[in-house]
Amino acid sequence: MLTRRSFLSLTGAAVLGAAALALPGCGESRGAASSASASNATAASSSAAAKSDTIVVYFSHAGENYGVGVIEEGNTAIVAKMIAEKTGADLFEIVPSEAYPEGYDECCDVALNEQNAGARPAFAQDIDLTSYSTVYLGYPIWWGDLPMCVYTFLEAHDWAGKDIHPFCTHAGSGLSGTESKIASTCLGANVGQGLSIAGTTAQNSRDQAQAAVDAWLG
Ligand SMILES: Cc1cc2nc3c(=O)[nH]c(=O)nc-3n(C[C@H](O)[C@H](O)[C@H](O)COP(=O)(O)O)c2cc1C
Repeated sequence: MLTRRSFLSLTGAAVLGAAALALPGCGESRGAASSASASNATAASSSAAAKSDTIVVYFSHAGENYGVGVIEEGNTAIVAKMIAEKTGADLFEIVPSEAYPEGYDECCDVALNEQNAGARPAFAQDIDLTSYSTVYLGYPIWWGDLPMCVYTFLEAHDWAGKDIHPFCTHAGSGLSGTESKIASTCLGANVGQGLSIAGTTAQNSRDQAQAAVDAWLG
């Protein structure tokens, strides 16, 4: 059983299968899954103009979060921007059509319900990835997995021939086997070794986070 406290002691693939998860203090399941739809608007609009062949795509949740209080910028967003700055890559944020709750417990409930239901929450804007050969893909670990809205994004794109470099922030679980989940979702992509940074480090020890990013990028 994965509890909120056990985030701190879990590593990598030791994270449990989603079905077995229960997170007292991170919200109990409160009934039906949140509304979810894969019918995303495929607007061309994006903050990223396709000038580079490399892009950082990320999802991140500001608001109340584990070990950091209420934050204005999500932990993963901080790391995503470090990577974009260092590589000169474009930057694209996956924004769900329906925002996740700001409160930590409430967000945990919604995320767990989505995971249990295999939901694919819609995202607000899409981006044409055709011209990008390298994608840095960032996400927080949610219940030992990618947030379901990230799967929605991944399943909406053709990944054949692209290089994907996963990175995550977390509260103790590390990458939780998400590299192989990305590989089996993004057929034909080459998935590199991922980077995991504790959310508290990204938020509160930026020099340390930057050093980890720099070492990973080589
Ligand atoms: C819904 C939810 C579920 C989470 N599940 C896990 C988990 O299974 N393992 C873990 O290490 N951290 C978990 N966390 C903590 C986040 O991964 C961590 O705080 C991360 O840095 C948040 O990144 P963000 O600010 O970019 O969203 C969870 C947080 C939330 C909100």
